[in-house]
Amino acid sequence: MCGIVGYVGHSNATGIIIEGLKKLEYRGYDSSGIALCTKEKELIVRKKKGRIANLEELIGDENLYGNLGIGHTRWATHGAPSDVNAHPHTDASGRIAVVHNGIIENYQILREELENEHGIQFKSESDTEVIAQLIGLYYDGDLEEAVFKATERMRGAYGIGVICVNEPDRMVAVRKDSPLIVGLGKGCNFIASDIPALLKHVRQIYLIENNEMVVLNANEVKIYNGDRQPVSREVFNVNWEDEAAEKGGYDHFMLKEIHEQPQVIKDTLAGRIDENGEIAIDSIHMSKEEIESFNRIYIVACGTAYHAGLVGKFAIEKLAGVGVEVDVASEFRYRDPFIDEKTLFIAISQSGETLDTLAALREAKAKGARIMSIVNVVGSSVARESDDVLYTWAGPEIAVASTKAYTTQLICMYLLGLYMGRKKGVIADDVYRRYVDELEAAPDRIREILKGEKHIETLARKLYRRNNVFFIGRGYDAAVSYEASLKLKEISYINSFATAAGELKHGTIALIEQDTLVIAIATQQRLFEKMLSNIQEVKTRGAYVLGIAKADSTEMDQQAEDVIYIPQCMDEVSPLLSIVPLQILAYYIAKLRGCDIDKPKNLAKSVTVE
Ligand code: G6P
Repeated sequence: MCGIVGYVGHSNATGIIIEGLKKLEYRGYDSSGIALCTKEKELIVRKKKGRIANLEELIGDENLYGNLGIGHTRWATHGAPSDVNAHPHTDASGRIAVVHNGIIENYQILREELENEHGIQFKSESDTEVIAQLIGLYYDGDLEEAVFKATERMRGAYGIGVICVNEPDRMVAVRKDSPLIVGLGKGCNFIASDIPALLKHVRQIYLIENNEMVVLNANEVKIYNGDRQPVSREVFNVNWEDEAAEKGGYDHFMLKEIHEQPQVIKDTLAGRIDENGEIAIDSIHMSKEEIESFNRIYIVACGTAYHAGLVGKFAIEKLAGVGVEVDVASEFRYRDPFIDEKTLFIAISQSGETLDTLAALREAKAKGARIMSIVNVVGSSVARESDDVLYTWAGPEIAVASTKAYTTQLICMYLLGLYMGRKKGVIADDVYRRYVDELEAAPDRIREILKGEKHIETLARKLYRRNNVFFIGRGYDAAVSYEASLKLKEISYINSFATAAGELKHGTIALIEQDTLVIAIATQQRLFEKMLSNIQEVKTRGAYVLGIAKADSTEMDQQAEDVIYIPQCMDEVSPLLSIVPLQILAYYIAKLRGCDIDKPKNLAKSVTVE
């Protein structure tokens, strides 16, 4: 996690870096800092615990000026959030400053060596200070050389930006297993962890590969591979609008992103269903024989993306006729799963940088699996290391709680199931057409749900003081329950728990008492009566039930205290709709509780540590 930004040019770097950091706050926000190099060869460092606003307050009216600078917004791993542990970190001589995103795994050994053999005194508990001290130790008039020598000693994951007062015209950056991009400006160049930080200034970027080092000045960017050989890179043109990373009149990014779902679903479908209704996915190159040869599919992901995988399992098993296992990436990578060349491994990731997902992907690849990924960020590590990529065209998702990425991931799961089933010839024509129609109808149906926002806000007023909430569902609805529960807990801090409705009586029901809120998702015709029985079970024990049901489910009215209706749809695609009111409910509950919705405590959007 953490976000880094760097600038070298002819303007004052201060404002540019701070504005860029604000766009990266989603990556971590427990402290931030900036280091500038002045023409007088002075290094200015300001850093502060808390949000970037605290750093701005610290700087106040101080007229900081430098044409070269680096900045950082932190999600603490080594060392508690504090002023002193905040980045940038400097070397013992105070000439060199470093910002770092990632973890140095052998920092303890390096630190002891620097302290015991070189008498260096450390100021912080951060693993990053080791990088600054190592570079300082090796510095002999050439920053590039010193950074290279230091990285040869470092194990772990890092995207770093380094400046030195003796070289006020250039910056050095390195990437290993943490994202890093370079922005190409006119008479200036940038580094950053992610595109939104630079959208205000550049549209042309270089995607830096693993183990590459970049040396930048105002007019030139040189990239070197791990053997220090120069490499050339194609320019990547970003077509996002700057406003895509702005709130656009909404109070929070989360609400804006919830409202963007009809459009981004449309974008994700666009070009993938041709005028004859056939699925055409240019970015997947699997023959009929290859698809038929898969005897096992793993879907691997973390957080919300994992929940999209739970729905994906149902969709792919049904549509493509092959068994699918879904696993959280942190478990998959260490459980020695059975993988061979007949395995299809599907990674789902909004950021494409989640370390556990990436590591699981590499594990599967090494064992011969075919790698496919469903990713939002173009050019991200997961995308680049996959054989086939199906992009979700959700645009930048800024709120930590994922919404539009989830629904577009679902779309990709359905598209993939249809694509594979069609190629294998196992889906009847009429079933296939029905699915395509249903997917194409989803944006309008979500618009319908969004029109009911006021009603959901009213329900939130009724419910926001609860301390415990249970979500139940069956089949597809169980999969949605997990995501709905995560949404609520991560932004409102209410203790919420999801379980398959049939599993309730095997333990969880012991927690139901008078007025406990149970949110029952019941959109599956085949399972509706079973759900009504489960609702009865909790009501008998005093539960207050909020039902989520399809428009014609009048029985729900009689069973539940409150109901949110979603438009009629085919049962199998109901997750695309049923999650939306629950995203809105979570949003308003969190708002009423006064929570920091876009940046919930202890979380970060991109998790690049284990
Ligand atoms: C973090 C985010 C979640 C996200 C998960 C996986 O926990 O807060 O919103 O679902 O990481 O991230 P990815 O980028 O791989 O989808």
